[in-house]
Amino acid sequence: MAKRKILIGVTGGIAAYKIPFLVREFIKADCEVKIIMTPAAINFVTPYTLSVLSKNEVLIDFFPDAKSENDDKNNIVEVNSKTWHVNLGLWADIFLIAPATCNTISKVVNGISDNLLLTTILSARCPIIFSPAMDDDMFKNIVIQENMKKLETLGYKVIPPEEGELASGLYGQGRMPEPDKLFKLTIEYLNELKDLNGKKVLVTAGPTREFIDPVRFISNPSSGKMGFEVAIAAFERGADVTLISGPVNLSAPKEINLLKVITTNEMFESVMNNLDDKDYVIMTAAVEDITPANSSKSKLKKESFKNKFTIDFENTIDILEYIGKNKKNFKLAGFALETDNGEENARKKLEKKNLDFIVLNNPNDKDAGFGTDTNKVKFIDKDNIENIPMKSKREIADLILDKLIKL
Ligand code: CTP
Repeated sequence: MAKRKILIGVTGGIAAYKIPFLVREFIKADCEVKIIMTPAAINFVTPYTLSVLSKNEVLIDFFPDAKSENDDKNNIVEVNSKTWHVNLGLWADIFLIAPATCNTISKVVNGISDNLLLTTILSARCPIIFSPAMDDDMFKNIVIQENMKKLETLGYKVIPPEEGELASGLYGQGRMPEPDKLFKLTIEYLNELKDLNGKKVLVTAGPTREFIDPVRFISNPSSGKMGFEVAIAAFERGADVTLISGPVNLSAPKEINLLKVITTNEMFESVMNNLDDKDYVIMTAAVEDITPANSSKSKLKKESFKNKFTIDFENTIDILEYIGKNKKNFKLAGFALETDNGEENARKKLEKKNLDFIVLNNPNDKDAGFGTDTNKVKFIDKDNIENIPMKSKREIADLILDKLIKL
């Protein structure tokens, strides 16, 4: 499973002393953590502490000095030192500003960007959460209250400060929630944002095998990668996923309901048993089309082949066609593996199998098709054809899901 990428912005408030504990919570949950501090924040917690705990360099300055740029080959500096603010905002799945002082909040709502953290906030594409922390009287100040409302109007998520004893010795509202709570709220928010939350997805993957005798079968070189990537992407986007796979050497996160099958008939039965309530069905499996008409229960001895051996084959059931023709309330995508007349054949399959769209690929394309980590495909529906250039199978998996959601 891809690690969740958490960017934390630390500003100069006393609650910054809780951030090392918060970083540990994220690391324990197998998240990747990167941190930006304002220059004022380093008076409350050391960048060194946060760097050790997050296992990443902590960024503070707008302009890195030439030495760190050349010395450290493993940090973000390598990507493009002049655009850290853009890189980090693109990297993160979620950006948590904690503690958020009223100075930082007021600057954000006015578009001021005079430190690295502020420029990153203003250029980030990921969702941003503010956890304001300040003294009770500052928090109640009318200007701050207005700015807090503006934050929400601008689309930022705000975690209201809690009531309790404050650093000043006063009692009131202004405390940043404890790290465990902040961690929980951030992860919950991240989950809420997932576009397949509450959806049920069925994916088939890998090859099937059709046996000639107990030790011989016909099959194909499908590695199952495409289907596993679709299943994992759907799971990471919040779906409840059932993955029915033929024999492959891959594993899936334990939260995915992985059902292993071998033959086409087993795959068919498993699909039929798991079709109810599904919202999206994606058939990536390279199902074997033919099966020996008379499969032998006993091992055939080589002497019996006598140099020449003929097998009669018959067609297996076309699982996709069957479920397409008996389609209920789900959106259905299939694959077309074609070496010749790709578009024409894919369109025929789209129609014949009653699909919402079909993904066309060619096993003869370089770095595409069976066993590769990349693929080059076309998405075809009844109205459109979309060329997808060479991409990782994970990227294609996400595009398939985007397309199904749009449909
Ligand atoms: N499929 C299926 N059951 C089969 C054969 C194929 O469910 N017995 C599905 C595949 O999972 C894929 C789609 O149908 O999503 C198209 O598979 P493909 O191998 O490209 O085409 P076929 O329909 O098998 O036709 P042909 O081999 O003649 O191209």
